[in-house]
Amino acid sequence: MDAICVENLRVIFHTGKETINAVDDVSFSLRKGEILGIAGESGSGKSTIAAAIMGLVHPEEGHIYFNGRDLTVLRENEMREIRGQHIALINQEFSSALNPFRKIAPQMRDAISAHRKTSRKEAEKHAEKMLGIAGLESPRTILEAYPHQLSGGMKQRVMIAIALSQGADILIADEATASLDVTIQAQIIEVLKNLNRTMGTSIIFISHNLDALETIAGRIMIMYSGRIAEIAGSRELFTSPMHPYTEALIAASPKPFCVPSPIPGRMERNAGTFSSCLFAARCPERTKRCLHERPPVFRKGERYISCWERCDE
Ligand SMILES: Nc1ncnc2c1ncn2[C@@H]1O[C@H](COP(=O)(O)OP(=O)(O)O)[C@@H](O)[C@H]1O
Ligand SMILES: [Mg+2]
Repeated sequence: MDAICVENLRVIFHTGKETINAVDDVSFSLRKGEILGIAGESGSGKSTIAAAIMGLVHPEEGHIYFNGRDLTVLRENEMREIRGQHIALINQEFSSALNPFRKIAPQMRDAISAHRKTSRKEAEKHAEKMLGIAGLESPRTILEAYPHQLSGGMKQRVMIAIALSQGADILIADEATASLDVTIQAQIIEVLKNLNRTMGTSIIFISHNLDALETIAGRIMIMYSGRIAEIAGSRELFTSPMHPYTEALIAASPKPFCVPSPIPGRMERNAGTFSSCLFAARCPERTKRCLHERPPVFRKGERYISCWERCDE
């Protein structure tokens, strides 16, 4: 069963003189109860996918199915309901998402009562419980605090608790731990894994940090310049990467005791306008075909890969 199914998604940004194909013909699904990781260099379209699912940007083409409904055709008020009750986004902006002049308690109460009728007391009890689930040790103290009295990691947990208290069954974490220090990052990842295990929350975990993804994701989708390079089970991806870009990305990822080998060249930032493999310019295995023909996303059992050389039989 899919929690979310994305089909042929294309998102284009028009800025002054430029047209940016941020997401180009991307299809994938988030299965119910899984943690799907999305990785890729900065600018590869990860946040745009998240924004499209949240209804914050309007795709040029494609469909996003949730419980049989196509989210891309919903009106803003219908989408607002989905955002509040079913799909929540947590990102790096957790500090600005909280009102600095109000204590956590009323902010959480508002979030809870926006979608369902509850007494003040019930709402606070619920908030307390969710803060506990988000790994905060003394929820009462947190409820009575102002945001500035909390650390970054605590604020991020409050954001997770708010998402949960609204009943979100799908969580999208977009670089949600990126600004936190390593130990706190690991703790937040544990909280998310716990949620997934105990409450069955389906999670999309977006990160440019492969190590973080390896510890949390069951499957990983690798994005390159707005397109899918590869989708594979986390274990399979790291033990036997199929796409040359995945291989390069793993080799380039920082390791505590080894010098990483950076990928030569730069990522083209404008997919869609190229009828080639976008990685071809940087790929050690490119052939003529790669430069002239866009590879489709091939299916290999449970894996998906977009590469002529590694897939064509
Ligand atoms: N609001 C926007 N307006 C114009 N271009 C954008 C906007 N948001 C993202 N982009 C562009 O779309 C591409 C994908 O960006 P993004 O989805 O943020 O990538 P990632 O999250 O992987 O770093 C980039 O080239 C980026 O510059
Ligand atoms: Mg991003």
